[in-house]
Amino acid sequence: MFQNASVKRVYVETYGCQMNVSDGELMEGILAARGYEIVGNPEEADVVLVNTCAIREHAERRVLGRVSQLNGLKRENPDLVIGITGCMAQRMGDDLLEKAPFVDLVMGPDSYRSLPQAIGGLDNKPRERKQLAVLALQSEENYQGLEQRRSEGPSAWLPIQRGCNHRCTFCIVPYVRGPEKNRSPEDILKEVRGLVKDGVSEVTLLGQTVNSYSLEDVDFPDLLRQVARVPGIRRVRFTSPHPIDVTPRLVEVMAIEDAVCEQLHLPAQSGNNRTLRRMLRRYTVEQLLEKIEMVREAIPDIALSTDIIVAFPGETEEEFRDTLRLMHRVRFDDAFTYKYSLREGTPATRLPEEDFISFGEAQTRLEELIDVSRGIRAEINQDEVGRIEEVLIEKHGRHKGQLLGRTRRNKVVVFDGDPALVGEYRRVQLERTTGATFIGTEIPGSVAAVRA
Ligand code: 5AD
Repeated sequence: MFQNASVKRVYVETYGCQMNVSDGELMEGILAARGYEIVGNPEEADVVLVNTCAIREHAERRVLGRVSQLNGLKRENPDLVIGITGCMAQRMGDDLLEKAPFVDLVMGPDSYRSLPQAIGGLDNKPRERKQLAVLALQSEENYQGLEQRRSEGPSAWLPIQRGCNHRCTFCIVPYVRGPEKNRSPEDILKEVRGLVKDGVSEVTLLGQTVNSYSLEDVDFPDLLRQVARVPGIRRVRFTSPHPIDVTPRLVEVMAIEDAVCEQLHLPAQSGNNRTLRRMLRRYTVEQLLEKIEMVREAIPDIALSTDIIVAFPGETEEEFRDTLRLMHRVRFDDAFTYKYSLREGTPATRLPEEDFISFGEAQTRLEELIDVSRGIRAEINQDEVGRIEEVLIEKHGRHKGQLLGRTRRNKVVVFDGDPALVGEYRRVQLERTTGATFIGTEIPGSVAAVRA
């Protein structure tokens, strides 16, 4: 396949969501299987792939900055291949090639199977190289049979679904990732068993609306149960669910299966019904609250997080206040907050021009929302000080001798300990909180004792 007989070195740099991180691992897996060497920085690479996000304008601007930086490398090494993959590549396509003439390849999220051919087909002589765009959406592509290249460790991202069938009016995802495509349950379970063999004990199931998964008579609650029961799997998470598919059956599986963590990320987007309707979210605030009540009744200790967009076109000040009211009412453990960002091609762009809210006003709303959500988070976390939690140690902390891990409820804890403990579970008492994370001490004794 290579025009050049020597082994090529590839560096993949990923921006954006967990699905993108997982796609980055997929690209590395596909290329490694073809004999490419994966390297850890662009200076060592023959091929640099920037795996991009299109969800907000800010994400795209960052990438454009980074790509022009990489052009500096290309001046030193004219043979260097620069590729842009992912959602921004899909969204901007040929425009991107025009704007950045030093970019050799743009490839959308459905075309990674052909990555080796695309790179192999680029001319070795930089002057004669033609720019290549591979952008077709493939309604069937779910990357069955291809292996991700994962870094070693106890936790793994596991895509079970790609694309999205919703049409939330603010969102670019359905246009850059196409319709929903689910992977077969057999394939998923086989992969989970393989991961366990490689030392993984925590998996996070990924999908754009992960809980709408359904294939071959297996729906999301079924799949979640089956994954949770794979021997060796100790923690299962999933992200991101859509509130409309949070059903009593799903909640039952979450409550019953020991491995399913007491954590749910539930994007609310707004606390106002008129806004939710214009976002085409397909639920009301009341229905959302009912779902949350159902979840909390079944799993009282559950940690809830959410996504909120402020200043959606037409959102009045009073409607924004409804979102603040929702925050006070639900008291999410954490919230990811965003200013509405116009995405070309999405339905919201067609709203009347006078509806669009100024940057300054949006910023003021965002800051108020962040204050409220951080305040609530700090209060909740302060109340948790003193608890003993099972922590899965993920990596070394910032300071020497420090370890960093997560509780089942997805809270970050740092504590002092032996660096060799990375990948293990330990009992940790939460001693203090910064508001966002915890500082703890290891408590001797069996970890099994703290499992619910
Ligand atoms: N503007 C701002 N935020 C957005 N999100 C998605 N699209 C937009 C947009 N156009 C947010 C939503 C989603 C999260 C991943 O990103 O809150 O849940």
